[in-house]
Amino acid sequence: MHPSRRPLIAGNWKMFHGGRSSVELASGVVAFARELPSVDVVVAPPFTALAAIAETLDGSKVGLAAQNLYPKDTGAFTGEISAPFLKECGCAWAIVGHSERRQVFGETDAFVAEKTAAALASDLVPIVCVGETLAQREAGETLRIVKAQVDAVLDVIARASTAVAVAYEPVWAIGTGKTAGPAEAEEVHAAIRSWLERKDPALAARTRILYGGSVKADNAASLLACPNVDGALVGGASLDPGSFGAIARATKG
Ligand code: PGA
Repeated sequence: MHPSRRPLIAGNWKMFHGGRSSVELASGVVAFARELPSVDVVVAPPFTALAAIAETLDGSKVGLAAQNLYPKDTGAFTGEISAPFLKECGCAWAIVGHSERRQVFGETDAFVAEKTAAALASDLVPIVCVGETLAQREAGETLRIVKAQVDAVLDVIARASTAVAVAYEPVWAIGTGKTAGPAEAEEVHAAIRSWLERKDPALAARTRILYGGSVKADNAASLLACPNVDGALVGGASLDPGSFGAIARATKG
């Protein structure tokens, strides 16, 4: 397997732990990550905690991610944060196109592609999120929807020298306690890998495809054992170093 497909476990803290409690959480992550040399561990705190957490992570192997970015470097965009600012703040990663951004803030596939390009231009590794809603799954539209989301970023990620990550997160599984079974997850992951392969075999070989959506300590091992599941994007269970660490230990790494 390509070395860039080392297991990657990323914690998306969403709009939780924006202040002092985030530093404590980050310290717990640093402690367990030390014991897992072959697993890449990343945390994505809210913007207000990034600078403090960058200090906490300094000298550790835990990577810092932003949860979002705006795809312009500077300018009159009140309330927005650019990729160069995130880079300067200590981020090495950026989540883009999370389903909450798509659903709550109306982000389109094209906008997600712009953000992906902006992240790469500032040397941030994008974690590009894709996934279908429950209605789309029930209508048998899963692969069509996910393919459209992947296609939107395909040229951008194929051109990049950096190995990006794609996170397959079925919307119906996020924060609901329902998770795709390993076979359901693997079906979509294998499809994503095949679309990348068709674009460029080297792209398929280096891209990590993460699963996300109610990943917990007790279901992580079976999901992470799937051949095309290279890691996890974890929401709720990443807010506790105990459960987040257990998920990281469940990797193949
Ligand atoms: P969850 O969130 O693990 O709480 O379902 C995952 C995500 O939104 O990335």
